[in-house]
Amino acid sequence: MKALCWHGKGDMRLDTVPDPKIEHPRDAIIKVTACAICGSDLHIYNGVIPRMEHGDVIGHETMGEVVEVGSGNRALKVGDRVVVPFTIACGECFFCKRGFYSGCERSNPDMKAAEKLWGHSPAGLFGYSHLLGGYAGGQAEYLRVPFADSGPIKVPSGLSDEQVLFLSDIFPTGYMGAEFCDIQRGDTIAIWGCGPVGQFAIRSAFLLGAERVIAVDTVPERLTLARAGGAETLDFRQEDVYDRIQELTKGRGADACIDAVGTEADATASADSVLDRVKTATFMGTDRPHVLRQAIHCCRNFGTVSIIGVYGGFLDKVPMGSAINRGLTFRMAQTPVQRYLPGLLRRIEKGQIDPSFVITHRAALADGPDLYKTFRDKKDGCIKVVMRP
Ligand SMILES: NC(=O)c1ccc[n+]([C@@H]2O[C@H](COP(=O)([O-])OP(=O)(O)OC[C@H]3O[C@@H](n4cnc5c(N)ncnc54)[C@H](O)[C@@H]3O)[C@@H](O)[C@H]2O)c1
Ligand SMILES: [Zn+2]
Ligand SMILES: [Zn+2]
Repeated sequence: MKALCWHGKGDMRLDTVPDPKIEHPRDAIIKVTACAICGSDLHIYNGVIPRMEHGDVIGHETMGEVVEVGSGNRALKVGDRVVVPFTIACGECFFCKRGFYSGCERSNPDMKAAEKLWGHSPAGLFGYSHLLGGYAGGQAEYLRVPFADSGPIKVPSGLSDEQVLFLSDIFPTGYMGAEFCDIQRGDTIAIWGCGPVGQFAIRSAFLLGAERVIAVDTVPERLTLARAGGAETLDFRQEDVYDRIQELTKGRGADACIDAVGTEADATASADSVLDRVKTATFMGTDRPHVLRQAIHCCRNFGTVSIIGVYGGFLDKVPMGSAINRGLTFRMAQTPVQRYLPGLLRRIEKGQIDPSFVITHRAALADGPDLYKTFRDKKDGCIKVVMRP
């Protein structure tokens, strides 16, 4: 089959690789009808994710038609149309039973490496390095889905691929980011990053009752889309983010702040941002947490900082003094996608949201290598790429 494979920093190729096979009775194989490129894939593309190997098939936002099921899988049958969560979870372990699917203790076959880095291993993920299971990803013609009797959600035929594909990741992720904020009537939520994840955080914040959303980015078309979703926007290259948020919140700070940027924050003129660049370039640091620092400073006393942008290692100069003295709450996670699927599918069916609003580019798998570059460089108005193998 054809698949998008990683061959080093900035080097994605359309390769021919062996077709996936059923390896366990609970597996299913799906023929991919639509897949997307995520901001998390850009961390791989940019070479900041450890333990990638040449030829790894990547991609974790995938849906398609079931073409084969394992002998022990009673939940799916050939012909079912499903969306596959990016988090691989057994559905039965200590964590899965509590709804913490992205903490599944059975889906990462090589837990030792993750334990060494993080203390404990999270769940395995599709197409996301050998640290997280080394599973082949879904930017491919076919995908093997482990624990397929518990993860994938069947979708009704009345909804198009483009309306449901993002249930695999970015819609639940943005929603979780807003849910973490425990939004009360009258709340103002500040959101850093108007990429696809930030866009879903903005809309979810309003779905959950926020009165105002202040969205921060610098890319014009992303700010425009944020305003279309009801947010007031702020360009971090044109304005002082802290000062403006102070102004907009009567000097108190935002009730909750969502970091939907993560480890690869764009450089700003600030000293901390320059220092992050130097430290990561010289292997003295692992992440560039400029946005997290800013989100902490901009959050009101006893507010919540919700972190959905991904970080990898040991964050430097995070102002914990500000956080503890002012009673901040931190919430963060790789999204336990399965937990959100039924509720969010219902919201789509009821017409409360049509997730296809973020799509700017539709293409074939063969266009993938070029589109990785376009998406990374935010060229050609690119906000979200969907490919049809
Ligand atoms: N927690 C999860 O389970 C989960 C799931 C999906 C994605 N993610 C993460 O969410 C983040 C966003 O993903 P995406 O697909 O939207 O990616 P993206 O790269 O398209 O968007 C990031 C946005 O942040 C903006 N940005 C950069 N520096 C900024 C700054 N200093 N202030 C404000 N905005 C800034 C960029 O201009 C860009 O628009 C990534 O880190 C990704 O890995 C997490
Ligand atoms: Zn993702
Ligand atoms: Zn589990």
